[in-house]
Amino acid sequence: MKDIVIKDAKVVNEGKILRDTSILIRNGIIEKIFREAVPANILAQSEVIDASGKLLLPGVIDDQVHFREPGLTYKGDIKTESNAAIAGGITSFMEMPNTVPQTVTQELLEQKFQIASKVSLANYSFYIGATNENLEELLKTDPSNVCGIKVFMGSSTGNMLVDNPETLSALFAKSKMLIATHCEDEQIIQANIAQAREKYGEDVPIWEHSKIRDTNSCFKSTSKAVELVKKFGTRLHVLHLSTAGEIALFDAGPVKGKKITCEACVHHLWFSESDYEKLGTHIKWNPSIKSANDRQALLKGLTDNRIDVIATDHAPHTLEEKDQTYFKSPSGGPLVQHSLVAMLELSRNGKITLEKVVEKMCHNPADLFGIEKRGYIRKGYKADLVLVDASRWTVTKENILSKCGWSPFEGESFYYFINQTFVNGNIVYENNNPNSAGTFFEDVKGERLTFNRNQP
Ligand code: DOR
Repeated sequence: MKDIVIKDAKVVNEGKILRDTSILIRNGIIEKIFREAVPANILAQSEVIDASGKLLLPGVIDDQVHFREPGLTYKGDIKTESNAAIAGGITSFMEMPNTVPQTVTQELLEQKFQIASKVSLANYSFYIGATNENLEELLKTDPSNVCGIKVFMGSSTGNMLVDNPETLSALFAKSKMLIATHCEDEQIIQANIAQAREKYGEDVPIWEHSKIRDTNSCFKSTSKAVELVKKFGTRLHVLHLSTAGEIALFDAGPVKGKKITCEACVHHLWFSESDYEKLGTHIKWNPSIKSANDRQALLKGLTDNRIDVIATDHAPHTLEEKDQTYFKSPSGGPLVQHSLVAMLELSRNGKITLEKVVEKMCHNPADLFGIEKRGYIRKGYKADLVLVDASRWTVTKENILSKCGWSPFEGESFYYFINQTFVNGNIVYENNNPNSAGTFFEDVKGERLTFNRNQP
């Protein structure tokens, strides 16, 4: 493998923006960071990438994606969706267990790792899923090479609701693993559904979604998860906060050392209730998109460091499925290809700083899960990097890479685009015309993520 020099980039890393900075990659590792001119002998023996005028960031680590394999591969599969992720600057992902069959045994979990090792250009990990019955299997999970246990404390796609109080207590009491929760209170949701049915019959308008999956259901369920952890001392990560109220349940501060952490997702930071009118069920998610005030509070929660990471909850469904009436349309949508460019757009619009975007999408997921040697541009770290260029472009069917072939961002234009993605020092994706889908280099696959949960 020839050395690579990424020359004269604007590096965004560890709270700083460093202009005219060059990176030497050797054997997949960041060998040296140059703040001065790179010596001629190094340039002579390397493949040199001129990055002047471009941003260089650590690769994004997305801790919540649904890639649909096995069993739902007509919506997406590990290869198509990890390629879309790579094209979006995501170099590592952690995937959810609501596949068919559900990922609820060690054997089924290892099967996913096997598939990923053969097809995924990105680095990967997979959650094992909790049910009301599989505590023993969950407790066998190895924290050094599996990202966590997923618990649906509210029902969503895939019928994985864990609602037995004894099961939940036993799991939270015994788990040495990180538990990641989907928090929405099922009883509140069911009561709201009954009310909506009474008013509208089967023809419920989509903007009722945020009243059905409402702020109270989020607050009640998230409070319950936090209470369980305060009782048992478990390591809890609450996924996709969507309301202002929940944020107050979390402490502000650096992610390292926190026992309870939480996440915001790109769609909750971008869309608000007023978008239901135009985008309809294409922005139907669980938890629902809520008010502009909630969106504002989430952005503030990121700045205040109460919210630790930004992820996608990438959840492809076909257009045919999505374009049904309220109750029939499944929640979720494809996001991995556009999460970084959307967040960079928000930073251009002054909603969040560039440094914060990198902290929440790259550094903090690495620290939160204890991912070894990734998430930062540091000497000795794996060269998972993304080179970002600027030229306004538009999301269209022609440049969408998710297998489902649509995006909630269709018609949206972004200022930044992903020019090159590096995984373990390999250039795996390149795009010089943002309105196109770019080119993949598929020879070298990504690696299984490993975790050191005892990092200082
Ligand atoms: O909107 C959602 N879709 N939320 C989830 O929790 C699951 C996801 C899916 O798998 O479709």
